[in-house]
Amino acid sequence: MNPALTKIGAQMSNLTGVRAIMKDIVETLQASQGQELINLSAGNPLILPEVEQLWRDATAELLASAEYGEVVCRYGASQGYAPLIEAIANDFNKRYGLNLTSRNILITPGSQSLYFYAANSFGGSASNGELRQIVLPLSPDYTGYGGVCLQPEALIAYKPTLDIDAANHKFKYRPDFSQLAVSEQTGCIIFSRPCNPTGNVLTADEVNKIAALAANYNVPVLIDSAYAPPFPALNFTEMQPIFGDNIIHCMSLSKAGLPGERIGVAIGDEKFIQVLECFQTNLCIHASRYGQAIASRAINSGKLGEIATQVIRPFYQNKFAVLETTLDAAMPKDLPWFLHRGEGAIFAWLWLKDLPITDWEFYQELKKVGVIVVPGSTFFPGLQEEWSHKHQCLRISLTGSDAEIVAAMQRLAKVAEQVYQRAVVSA
Ligand SMILES: Cc1ncc(COP(=O)(O)O)c(C=O)c1O
Repeated sequence: MNPALTKIGAQMSNLTGVRAIMKDIVETLQASQGQELINLSAGNPLILPEVEQLWRDATAELLASAEYGEVVCRYGASQGYAPLIEAIANDFNKRYGLNLTSRNILITPGSQSLYFYAANSFGGSASNGELRQIVLPLSPDYTGYGGVCLQPEALIAYKPTLDIDAANHKFKYRPDFSQLAVSEQTGCIIFSRPCNPTGNVLTADEVNKIAALAANYNVPVLIDSAYAPPFPALNFTEMQPIFGDNIIHCMSLSKAGLPGERIGVAIGDEKFIQVLECFQTNLCIHASRYGQAIASRAINSGKLGEIATQVIRPFYQNKFAVLETTLDAAMPKDLPWFLHRGEGAIFAWLWLKDLPITDWEFYQELKKVGVIVVPGSTFFPGLQEEWSHKHQCLRISLTGSDAEIVAAMQRLAKVAEQVYQRAVVSA
């Protein structure tokens, strides 16, 4: 007999967005015996030898030091391991001319948990009964935001405007400030910069405008910087992190080679950090300390920042260039296809305008030619209104080899041509 679940229990046993698709992908991979599949669905970063070596060396140093027992054999403070907090404060103060103290920083077990704390501390039912919204100012955005609200009705996303460069088959999303509403009902605002899934980087002006709207109501703005500089520095366009009284700068060390160690970081005003820290104490006491200890060494030595810009960024930027060049050469010029500008992160985002079938059906067609990508409709959490664009996009991971990316994009171009042609014939 199934256990009787509460509303929250039922809600949290649902897999949202991309995690639901992953089940189909895993089954496809398991059933593929013999057939070689090019899997460009992963959000898992590749293991780059220089990055693995960095963490191996930091681990060897830790093991050889007296600190080891202190790190793994003891509980610690909920706020995080003090040497890591100090390393981040020093690094950020030096890089960005800030005056951070340890009270401005919280370490969490991965950044996903941070969004869970924030969404449920600032969003959902307030003590006066009003519903406080968790606002995603530009949809599509990270699918994981769909699962973090205990009251899903609190999640509200806004349709963007589209900047289209038709001649070059490129486009870029922009926040639609004519629609974006911030009020007493807003609990918090969240967006990723660079963005998973699109690779978009909101401009400094756009970020400052969102932060200013939110400041009028003392609303915190969480800038999900999982791909941003200084590490992993997966920005392919110039960008600087933006700080401010109501901005919580959120980082992750996952894309810098430590996804398994689960390290997230929140940097912001003490009043927000304390709320999030208490939530964490209640939930899990603190993040694991081993990853924090090796991270503090890699930050203090400057090696993490260096490897991010010299190894991690060029590796994925080159993958994007391979994908873009192949699509430019292989896609029929007369089809209305548009690649989102590759400004960062580890994905490409392709829009097939007026696609005659859904993104899910297109994903199935691609599977038949041995290519796996992620249907785009999973990346619009919180967007209530129907919008055909939602069913016309695909997320393609840059985690394949160059040869795999070339072969996959050539096959995708053929499938696209056939799908649009079939629609013309049957019309
Ligand atoms: C934009 C974005 N935010 C947050 C996360 C979660 O990362 P973490 O491993 O730090 O929980 C991811 C993971 O892919 C991501 O792409």
